[in-house]
Amino acid sequence: MIIAIDGPAASGKGTIGKRVAAHYGFRHLDTGLIYRAVAKSVLEDGALDNPADAIRAAQSLDPFRFAEDDLKADEVGKAASVISVIPEVRSALLAFQRDFAKSLPGAVLDGRDIGTVIAPEAEVKIFVTATPQERARRRALELKGRGQAVDEQAILADIVQRDERDTNRAVAPLKQAPDAHLLDTTHLDIDAAVRAAIDIVEAVRAGRGRG
Ligand code: CDP
Repeated sequence: MIIAIDGPAASGKGTIGKRVAAHYGFRHLDTGLIYRAVAKSVLEDGALDNPADAIRAAQSLDPFRFAEDDLKADEVGKAASVISVIPEVRSALLAFQRDFAKSLPGAVLDGRDIGTVIAPEAEVKIFVTATPQERARRRALELKGRGQAVDEQAILADIVQRDERDTNRAVAPLKQAPDAHLLDTTHLDIDAAVRAAIDIVEAVRAGRGRG
């Protein structure tokens, strides 16, 4: 079984994906980390404004080269949203993600284009969202927890800009698949959001569908 979870920055999709995968004993792939790994390679060893550097990094990527903590840094996320608009970068990362989606007994992938491009055949698609203000609040808490200084207004501006770039790019934009279940987590804490996601999976499994 494939569970596709898409949504904007700081919507909670990564934590939901991880916990839903653990619940079912499935493998989990946070596809944002792959784009972040490409971005980090370019930041270390190339120029962000040179698409050829990003394409080369994507084509020779070892997705497990960097520690997750280093990839989670804010500037890496920003750089990831820049290189992820390049069609050749996306196509270089396609096979790895599609192979992962075939993992047995099942896989949970989260990102921006899982239900639309990577695994349109996924049995369960969930589109996780929350208001930009709530997402900025969560991202600020997360960064504070990592000991970074935070300016919540700047984080909000960054989230709005990131949404704009991810939603309006020509290739594989962030959008809800027509058959995806919408999960708005604005008023849900993470436990409630995970429960709601599992409820969606269970409803689909029971053949009832929802939303
Ligand atoms: O949650 P946040 O947006 O901070 O980070 P992420 O999910 O790790 O994604 C970082 C960036 O990678 C996003 O802004 C997207 O531009 C890009 N991305 C993408 O284009 N496609 C994916 N499947 C996953 C991430």
